[in-house]
Amino acid sequence: MLACSAMLAAGAAGASGSPESVQLPAAQKSGGMPLMEALSKRHSSRSFSPGDLSPQELSNLLWAAWGVNRADGRRTIPTAMNYQELQVYVNRRDGVWRYEARSERLVRVADRALPAPMNDAPDVLIFAILDHQEYGPYHAGLAARSAGLYCASAKLACVVRASPVKAAEKADPNAFGFLPKGWKPSLRLHAGHPAK
Ligand SMILES: Cc1cc2nc3c(=O)[nH]c(=O)nc-3n(C[C@H](O)[C@H](O)[C@H](O)COP(=O)(O)O)c2cc1C
Repeated sequence: MLACSAMLAAGAAGASGSPESVQLPAAQKSGGMPLMEALSKRHSSRSFSPGDLSPQELSNLLWAAWGVNRADGRRTIPTAMNYQELQVYVNRRDGVWRYEARSERLVRVADRALPAPMNDAPDVLIFAILDHQEYGPYHAGLAARSAGLYCASAKLACVVRASPVKAAEKADPNAFGFLPKGWKPSLRLHAGHPAK
């Protein structure tokens, strides 16, 4: 099944009925390709191998996009006035998960994966923003950029997409029903191992 299924299966609903969650491995915060080399290698890629990202790759990718990198809770990307009004979700074959950056956990928010074309890569990061927050699209763009640079550094395939939200909603009008009130999907980053 999923390369990551063992990790995802490890989580369980708490006795109080709290949502299923899994602990990611701590993101690797050293190593990787030198920045200038990653910048020179970065490109969009729309062909993926079927296998999921490993738990470590997924953790690194999420940390690059929206991780906490300082003791005061600030992030790998800047946000206007440190609002931090961004949420990051991961669509996987087994459902949709919310990234909890401080604890590096995934919390399940949907039992089923999003419909096509939101599922054309093994892992799809969804950057959700507040309806009324003018800086939201900038924050989504920064997170997508940071995640994309990690992909270049780790030799993963990825593409930023803006278009498929409406198509996914046409396939399932409640596709993004897992988002809290007032939040909407913005950019996504579709990521996986490059096609052979
Ligand atoms: C805001 C934004 C939205 C994009 N939306 C899509 C999309 O919906 N579908 C897609 O295939 N590529 C999308 N892309 C990727 C661009 O097509 C791609 O970056 C461009 O062709 C340049 O290629 P490169 O990334 O390899 O330099 C998007 C890129 C950005 C920055």
